Amino acid sequence: MTKNIDWQNLGFSYIKTDYRFVARWKDGSWNEGELSTDHMITLHEGSTALHYAQQCFEGLKAYRCKDGSVNLFRPDQNAERLQKTCARLLIPAVPVNLFIRACKEVVKANQEWLAPYGTGATLYLRPFIIGVGENIGIRPAPEYIFTVFCCPVGSYFKGGMKPSNFLVSEYDRAAPNGTGGVKVGGNYAASILPHEQAAERNFADAIYLDPKTHTKIEEVGAANFFGITKDNKFITPDSPSILPSITKYSLLYLAKERLGLEAIEGDVYIDQLDQFAEAGACGTAAVISPIGGIQHGDNFHVFYSETEVGPITQRLYQELTGIQFGDIEAPEGWITKVELD
Ligand SMILES: Cc1ncc(COP(=O)(O)O)c(C=O)c1O
Repeated sequence: MTKNIDWQNLGFSYIKTDYRFVARWKDGSWNEGELSTDHMITLHEGSTALHYAQQCFEGLKAYRCKDGSVNLFRPDQNAERLQKTCARLLIPAVPVNLFIRACKEVVKANQEWLAPYGTGATLYLRPFIIGVGENIGIRPAPEYIFTVFCCPVGSYFKGGMKPSNFLVSEYDRAAPNGTGGVKVGGNYAASILPHEQAAERNFADAIYLDPKTHTKIEEVGAANFFGITKDNKFITPDSPSILPSITKYSLLYLAKERLGLEAIEGDVYIDQLDQFAEAGACGTAAVISPIGGIQHGDNFHVFYSETEVGPITQRLYQELTGIQFGDIEAPEGWITKVELD
């Protein structure tokens, strides 16, 4: 029985569900893992996750289709990105098949929390790994926990497919040769203050410029940037310090193959925003969130409109979400079905 929730008005907040998946790494290998109903984790006080941020995470969603079946969108990509993140922090990699099995088991066990088709809500999965066990020196942990929990979610930015405005931050979220390109908690700790500063001024989130020259757009909060130029090119920033967004790579493909646009990764200079007819933020949580305007110092630049969504942004949204919810044929390998019984 699907839970009785106001699915249309869900935001992006923690909601307690029934099960999570837990696996442990000890003495050189990951165990099989199992479902748990425990929402708490007890850690040794010396755990590296607590002191030295030796931890990392992922985010992906499960989608209820019209026929009642359930889709995961490109979970292999999340599994591979998690492995790259693990390599950067000397965390033992979680095998791709363990990652995908964990996600499937969590969705199946929590299927009552999966929104009905047509509400727009989804089940957000949060896989993460923490270094645990007795330690005090700066070195890899002796043990690790890999766990996946889930929550029903709606829009990440208030208003969802309505345009939001963003504020360019004076802070950097990541260093040029730091950890910006991998999904580690430390990057997000650095973004809490800029986010709050943006929110206090009524902006949806902070925009980060490249940490080396502060001239190019890198990230839109916890999402990548894309712009549609006045001559119909899809452009998204190319930088080693942004997170390689699975949504952004999916949109690069869809813009080219389905919309027939030239689609490129390139520099997006903050003082050359006039070239864009439309702009948006993209990510698993953000999906596609149109950008109304960007405040940079005293200058406020409006793209398509502060209230209306541009036509190409709209088409990309329909194509992407159509694929995720199973209404539009997916490129090969993009959808993994969750067997519910
Ligand atoms: C900093 C940052 N950039 C971009 C993204 C979008 O990545 P994805 O499309 O893989 O969710 C996310 C979310 O995961 C993020 O946290």
